Amino acid sequence: MKEIYLNDLNIELKKLLNGKWIESDSDTYIDIHSPLNNSLLGKVPAMSKEEVDLAIESCKEAQKKWKLTNIFERSEILYKAADILEEKIDELSELLIMEVAKDRESARSEVNRTADFIRFTADTAKNMQGEILQGDSFKGGTKDKIAMVTREPLGVVLAISPFNYPVNLAASKIAPAIIGGNTVIFKPATQGSLSGLYLANIFQKAGVPAGVINTITGKGSEIGDYVVTHPDIDFINFTGSSEIGARISQISKMTPTLMELGGKDAAIVLKDADLDLAAKNIVAGAYSYSGQRCTAIKRVLVENEVADKLVEKLKEKVEKLVVGNPLEKQVDIVPLIDNKSALFVEGLIEDAIKKGGKLIVGGKREENIVYPTLIDNVNEKMELAWEEPFGPVLPILRVNNIEEAIEIANKSQYGLQSSVFTENINDAFYIAGKLEVGTVQVNNKTERGPDHFPFLGVKNSGIGVQGIRYSIEAMSRVKSTVINLRK
Ligand code: NAP
Ligand code: G3P
Repeated sequence: MKEIYLNDLNIELKKLLNGKWIESDSDTYIDIHSPLNNSLLGKVPAMSKEEVDLAIESCKEAQKKWKLTNIFERSEILYKAADILEEKIDELSELLIMEVAKDRESARSEVNRTADFIRFTADTAKNMQGEILQGDSFKGGTKDKIAMVTREPLGVVLAISPFNYPVNLAASKIAPAIIGGNTVIFKPATQGSLSGLYLANIFQKAGVPAGVINTITGKGSEIGDYVVTHPDIDFINFTGSSEIGARISQISKMTPTLMELGGKDAAIVLKDADLDLAAKNIVAGAYSYSGQRCTAIKRVLVENEVADKLVEKLKEKVEKLVVGNPLEKQVDIVPLIDNKSALFVEGLIEDAIKKGGKLIVGGKREENIVYPTLIDNVNEKMELAWEEPFGPVLPILRVNNIEEAIEIANKSQYGLQSSVFTENINDAFYIAGKLEVGTVQVNNKTERGPDHFPFLGVKNSGIGVQGIRYSIEAMSRVKSTVINLRK
């Protein structure tokens, strides 16, 4: 493993600084083990504060030139990066399988989706226009006053990504940031950093100039506070837990942020729903990548009248999910990222059962594998009703009517997405209008894509809006130049 992916690329133990992969000055390294078999995959430097300073300084300097380049020129680099990603799909998806325990199909789909994302970013940026406003529409204004509204980059963007999509959620920050003329300090999740560094290497090979992307590695708990409060960071684009997001938001003070955080997406199933469609989507939405997706369905709120039928259909499907090691075959349920996460999920299952939840399927853990678990009769006193498990466990809460479903859905601290399954378009619109979430999916599982759609969380699920054009806009600012014509 190590020989193929890291030595070949010659990036192990290194950092990307000013266009070169160089040895870190740090004498501390972090071992990256595979969640599949605990094998050692590589080591990344735990960078010092001095190294962080140098990386940020280099980005700041490089941004002066980068912001002057043509969008066409930046786009050509992005197209090249997308092509290289596709060429490297076999290697990179193997690395994703080993480093974050993705199943093979999901790993390959993450790489392909990222290449598409990068190309669409270039296409979108090339088609974004400024605008001209005439002054005469406001009282007392005049046609002689004209505002020319253009966009400017923000400067140095800090991109912090989580473990679960080490390639996609890194590129979806880096590509819109650099196409807009920013430079990027990229801090991958430690588990996922080899895949993140691989991606940074692809951008470099595609021709991203020196200093436009620099990498920082090290544990967030050790170096995170220093980086996010650094005075030369102009914008923070973070994806991760609500807990860390809240901390960053608190300590970064005036630095603007874009945050994609945790979720507790509900699937609301009404009595007139197509239950086969609902069951199929709920199982795919809740259990893919073992539920380690922000947008996973994390609870079902079903009307009493159809609850028994729905549970039966879900049970049938959950029992068929294939559990195992993705190196051996295509599986649905992979080992969780670490034992601590699996223990947390097990604790939620135990609490629910202790308080009267009815175990329908699963409930078993072996080290970091949690078997797909379905629990019926979950109520509001159980932690599983509110906590984000980030694991393959789905609680079912039975409700009396639409109003109760909306009330419970909105009681959550999270507000990422929700699904509504119904054949009645009026009910779908009514519920969608009442839910406190960024996106409502009618008759489909909760999911982020297609990636040019707006993607946002409300309440503790996020700040700001992502999605290709939205991300470019978020990482740039409006500049208004007012021309006062001679009378
Ligand atoms: P996490 O523990 O919050 O870590 C996310 C990133 O933050 C990692 O790079 C981590 O580095 C870094 N970090 C940790 N402490 C930090 C600090 N004090 N300052 C700055 N950075 C710090 O999240 P995760 O376990 O990787 O990901 C799972 C969570 O992400 C779930 O809650 C999930 O819902 C959420 N998520 C949300 C979305 C969305 O779009 N809404 C998408 C994916 C995931 P280290 O790895 O070095 O600790
Ligand atoms: O959890 C990360 C987010 O990007 C998930 O995307 O398409 O799996 O919902 P998706």
